[in-house]
Amino acid sequence: MLYHRRPSWRLPESAATPEHMFWNRRAFLTGAAGIAGATIASPFAATAQEAAKSAYVPGAPFAPKPALNPAYADAGRAVTDEGVSSTYNNFYEFASHKRIYRAAQRLDTSGWKIEIDGKVEKPFEIGFEDLMSKVSLEERVIRHRCVEAWSMVTPWIGFKLSDLVALAKPLSSAKYVQFKTFFNPKVAPGQREPWYSWPYTEGMTIEEAANELSFMVVGAYGKVLPKQFGAPVRLHLPWKYGFKSIKSIVKISFVEKQPVSFWERAQAREYGFWANVNPKVSHPRWSQATEEVLGGGGKRIPTQLFNGYAEQVAHLYSGMEAKVGDRLWR
Ligand code: MTE
Repeated sequence: MLYHRRPSWRLPESAATPEHMFWNRRAFLTGAAGIAGATIASPFAATAQEAAKSAYVPGAPFAPKPALNPAYADAGRAVTDEGVSSTYNNFYEFASHKRIYRAAQRLDTSGWKIEIDGKVEKPFEIGFEDLMSKVSLEERVIRHRCVEAWSMVTPWIGFKLSDLVALAKPLSSAKYVQFKTFFNPKVAPGQREPWYSWPYTEGMTIEEAANELSFMVVGAYGKVLPKQFGAPVRLHLPWKYGFKSIKSIVKISFVEKQPVSFWERAQAREYGFWANVNPKVSHPRWSQATEEVLGGGGKRIPTQLFNGYAEQVAHLYSGMEAKVGDRLWR
């Protein structure tokens, strides 16, 4: 589906344009005016963060709480305040702004099932509870870098995606894994917006899926995963821009061809398949050299190659830049 823009006369631009595109457009305009070093405007002012944080009500504890993986006990930065990260979310199914946490509570996660199909020994459907009994849960403190140039550190609870791949028993012809979010425009009003191609999908190679960093998240901050974070189960790929970390997954397909993802379909030039974090390769409309620390009062820090996880993942891409060029970083 083509990317359509709503006529600008109907609403102010900030309301008519997905928020990150709005901010990015501002950055573009600032840059066009010739101001050196223009960056995206602070996406969520410190005072608004504080107000949202104090209104936040945390959910049920994750019991029993899985052990912390010592390899990921410290992300090298302070953990983002739970009230801040839980009230500042990208979940376009509910709206194209960040304050969706109340709206997301309408998502009914009871009886959640995940369908596994494609190039596997035998396609099947598995209930969320059943899946929980078949995987090894652990806690990890992990960095997250959004393509919009903000970042956070969250203590996730979850399991390695490779546990799920093992359950799926893919055939040797399976080269990629495709993920799909639920589709229910009755509870998710964003899915009524015609300028996106719903449901949200994402994809990765089978080698990336086998990497120890590829994590299926079912909890955060010692609690059952809040709906705004993508309950009951979402992916987290910390070395890639955040849009790859698809939420509220209902289907996982093992496929032969590289799948086209939600954002790639909307804006292929800007949001690609690989989307590995690289401070040296700018987004077409803004720099990726630094990032704003969520809850940090506007503080910016340098962005790291692969978001600081090069040791675990750089080998996956050796020699690839010559083949795909800058697409590796977008
Ligand atoms: N998954 C779905 N289904 N819908 C979305 O809009 N947004 C992505 C990603 N996964 C998104 C999604 C983007 S752009 C980011 S940065 C992260 O989720 C944000 O995750 P968070 O809200 O937990 O911080």
